[in-house]
Amino acid sequence: MLYKSFLRPFLFRLEPEQAHRITFALLRLTNYIPLFRAAMRNRYQYEEERLICRGIVCKNRIGLSAGMDKGAEVVDELSDYGFGFIEVGTVTPDPCAGNPRPRIFRLPKYQSLISRTGFNNPGLKVVRERLARVRAGRVTVGVNINKNPQSAGRQAVDDFVRMYDGLYTVADYFTINWGSVDDALMEEVLSALTARRDAKPVRRPILLKLPADITTEGMDTVLAAIARHGLDGVVATGPTTDRSQVRRYTQAELAAIGAGSVSGKGMGLKSYMAVDYLRRHGGSDLLIIGAGGVMTPSDAERMIRMGADFVQIYSAFIYEGPGIVPEMIIRVAEME
Ligand SMILES: Cc1cc2nc3c(=O)[nH]c(=O)nc-3n(C[C@H](O)[C@H](O)[C@H](O)COP(=O)(O)O)c2cc1C
Repeated sequence: MLYKSFLRPFLFRLEPEQAHRITFALLRLTNYIPLFRAAMRNRYQYEEERLICRGIVCKNRIGLSAGMDKGAEVVDELSDYGFGFIEVGTVTPDPCAGNPRPRIFRLPKYQSLISRTGFNNPGLKVVRERLARVRAGRVTVGVNINKNPQSAGRQAVDDFVRMYDGLYTVADYFTINWGSVDDALMEEVLSALTARRDAKPVRRPILLKLPADITTEGMDTVLAAIARHGLDGVVATGPTTDRSQVRRYTQAELAAIGAGSVSGKGMGLKSYMAVDYLRRHGGSDLLIIGAGGVMTPSDAERMIRMGADFVQIYSAFIYEGPGIVPEMIIRVAEME
């Protein structure tokens, strides 16, 4: 209510990344008003009981997708708004500038976003230090990891291993974007990472994040890789390159934005269909985080019905504000 009536109209008048920076500054500011933080936690927390599901322990099934807090700047503050888990990143070994701005575009008439951020992030060292400061156990943290953009071959494999080793003590699970390296190199990356995972005293699940435009053959390839390497699960899915589902915008308006992938309502049902396929063909042991186009409590329910264990949101948080988190949590909890 407060968000949609006051904060959103103000933020939506600003360029998206400027709005993002101001939102993060406001979140940081709440640290100086402990009573406000306590009030927010009170208002948005739905349940504090721990939920254990396929190797991930968290307090509810609704999480924040990668890309909002790429540099782990406000993980603790964001956790006030009820998320059961927060995925930070994508993080690379070295700091990365990402693509030139503007690189995020709102499509408010159809609750969607188009983005081409690239992997702008402050790098492994900074993210490790920030996550180490997040109060232990307060919120479950996943980290989406990648290689440095210029790394190829053996160097790329070493980058992923460096990320895993460097963040192992501060992350509860790891995600790697399927397609971030070619198939042959991905084999090497996955072998190296699962070997690291199995050598550590505590198992940190490794998930593959799939693009929304993946075909059924592509998903079969992913499921085979998961079985071969003993991976833990998937995040299905990331954004789509298909703009045909984005309504209320002309082709010319969409073309004027330039390159970029669609998130939010304009993704249509792609991610739900992927989750359905993956659950039916991946078996009951596969951990599935359903993401992409989950905008309402009914969408979250549908994602769970399709077979997801957990749900992640990004665009819904931008368009609906924090109130959507407990609404989704309650709807999903009522299904149990
Ligand atoms: C501005 C922006 C930046 C993003 N950055 C990343 C990223 O760094 N890594 C990643 O795996 N996904 C990234 N994503 C994709 C989201 O994690 C999510 O998969 C996608 O937005 C679909 O979910 P939604 O429909 O709930 O927004 C980004 C999305 C947006 C809109």
